[in-house]
Amino acid sequence: MNSNSLFDTYRLDRWWFEPLWTGFGFFCFVIYTTWAMLQGDYYWWSAGVEGFGGYLSPFYSPLIFINPIANGAAPMDHSWFGSWPEWWPNLIPASPAILILAGPLSFRMTCYYYRKFYYRAYFMSPPGCSVKGIINKKYKGETALLIFQNLHRFTLYIAIGIIFILSYDAILSFFQGGKFGVGVGSIILTINPILLIGYTFGCHAFRHLSGGHKDCFTCPNGKPTFRYRVWKGVSWLNGRHMMWAWISMIWVAFTDIYVRMVASGYWIDMNTWNN
Ligand code: FES
Repeated sequence: MNSNSLFDTYRLDRWWFEPLWTGFGFFCFVIYTTWAMLQGDYYWWSAGVEGFGGYLSPFYSPLIFINPIANGAAPMDHSWFGSWPEWWPNLIPASPAILILAGPLSFRMTCYYYRKFYYRAYFMSPPGCSVKGIINKKYKGETALLIFQNLHRFTLYIAIGIIFILSYDAILSFFQGGKFGVGVGSIILTINPILLIGYTFGCHAFRHLSGGHKDCFTCPNGKPTFRYRVWKGVSWLNGRHMMWAWISMIWVAFTDIYVRMVASGYWIDMNTWNN
C-alpha cells in the first residue's frame, strides 16, 4: 500500500460504492429542491373549485405569504399572514418555499446519518472505514467549525411541528370544494407525513428524549413501563434510520413533482371527484 495516495486501504470490497451513490443522490435532491424552491408557482391544485380542500406541495407548506398573481398559487385564505409583502426585494423570487425550507433542511443537514454520508461523500474525511482520505490535523470535529451541528436536538422540534402541518395538508387533500373524495394525490400526500414520522421519530435525539437519563425501565414493579415501550419503538426506527432518511427524502421531492405536474396540466390526477 502506498501510504501517500488518497484512497489507500486494505479493504477489498466496493467501499467506494456507498459514498458514490449517496453523494450523487443527495446532489440530485439539492439541485431539484433549489430549482423547485425558486419557482414560486404550480404548488397548489384544486381543480378550480373553491372551498375546503386541495393539494399543496410539501416544499411550500406552511404558506406564510401568498403571491396571488403566481400561476398555480393557493387561494389567499391558505396564507398565514396574507398577501405577498411589498418590501420583498425584486431580485429574490416571490416564492413561499424560500420562507420555510430552511426549517426542514436544518433538521436533515444536522442529522447524524446525513453527517456521516456527506462527510464521506463530499469531504472524504474519510471516504470510508479504514480508507485514507483527506486528513486535516487541525480538525476539531463538532466543537469548532462544525459546532452548529449540535443544534440538531433543537431542530427536532421544528421537524415535529412540520409533521403536524403536513398531516393537516394530507387531510386537506381528501377534499375538493368541501366535498370528500380520494385522488392519487391524496394518497401521495398522505404517505409523505407517514414516511417523515418514520424518519423523525427514529432520530437519535428523539431516542435520547424517550429513553435517556433512565437507569431502569422496569422499576418500580418489575413491569416494562410505557416509556420503555416507546423507547423500544423508537429504537426499531432508529436501527433503520438510513432507510427512512432516503425514502422520506425521495418521497417529499416526488410529492412536489406530482403536485407541480398536476397543477401545470402535464399530469391528470385520477380521483373520485371526476375532475
Ligand atoms: S439523527 Fe437523523 S434525524 Fe436526528
